[in-house]
Amino acid sequence: EEDLIHTFNGIAFTTRSSPELLSSLATFDARDDDVLLVSYPKSGTHWLAEIIMHLYTSKVALTSPIEFGDLSRLEQLDHLSCKRIIPTHLDANMLPPTFKLKQCKAIYILRNPKDIAVSMYHYYKENPNLPTIETWSEFLEMFLKGDVVCGSWFDHILSWEEYTTDKNTLFLFYEDMKKDLPKVVKQVSSFLGVNTSESGINEICAKCSFSEMKTNTEKENYDPNQTVCALTSNRRLIFRKGAVGDWKNYFTSKQDRVFEETFAKKMKCSKVAKHLVYE
Ligand code: A3P
Repeated sequence: EEDLIHTFNGIAFTTRSSPELLSSLATFDARDDDVLLVSYPKSGTHWLAEIIMHLYTSKVALTSPIEFGDLSRLEQLDHLSCKRIIPTHLDANMLPPTFKLKQCKAIYILRNPKDIAVSMYHYYKENPNLPTIETWSEFLEMFLKGDVVCGSWFDHILSWEEYTTDKNTLFLFYEDMKKDLPKVVKQVSSFLGVNTSESGINEICAKCSFSEMKTNTEKENYDPNQTVCALTSNRRLIFRKGAVGDWKNYFTSKQDRVFEETFAKKMKCSKVAKHLVYE
């Protein structure tokens, strides 16, 4: 059980991210045209990845997360000859420095952390690669302490905060995508510098609906190992509910109060946190 997790830089990783890989990340060579897809787990990474892949008409490769694998990982990525879309759940301070030096584009997706906690709770319960969780309240405590895979949600946001003023980084919100997907897809399209017609945008939105993505993933011919999340062993576990505000079905009023207190304390100086859509 304990063997499922190891700690690196004070952050919990599954054994699917080898310590050797994590310590060699600093040597990774980013390319000018790489696009980073940054998220804390359960923020909508698969959704956004699907949208990005539909936007490109040229050949691009969506890789598994950069921190996923063993030492051969960096070489594998190096062998890809086309443009790379590289997901990551890493804190900004663990990101290979060449991404910043080469001014690579990055898209950071955020989501209400209460919904993330609920989503992650279910995920822990169903994923054999993660430690066993007994109750929701036990998990929530772990989440608030940052005692979960990929570390603290709060620290993740704070570490990426400096990128808000970087013109090469686009911050998106899951809740905005739920509210007006065509608008966000247009925004991503222009950020990535790809031309997409109005009808193209609408087609993409239809293909990336929750039900469409869930159905496609459940089809026999889909490789369930193809995931953009470093703690996912099975893509089929991803499409659970896809809703905003599911946290209300789980949080007691006391838990909500504790969460709000922690949030206020940790995110006092965060500009990003102020933009989070709370419902
Ligand atoms: P829930 O567990 O709340 O349903 P990630 O891809 O970063 O791991 O995030 C997974 C979360 O995104 C899950 O949340 C999943 O259902 C939701 N999701 C995935 N595809 C979606 C889509 N097309 N529309 C809305 N939500 C989606």
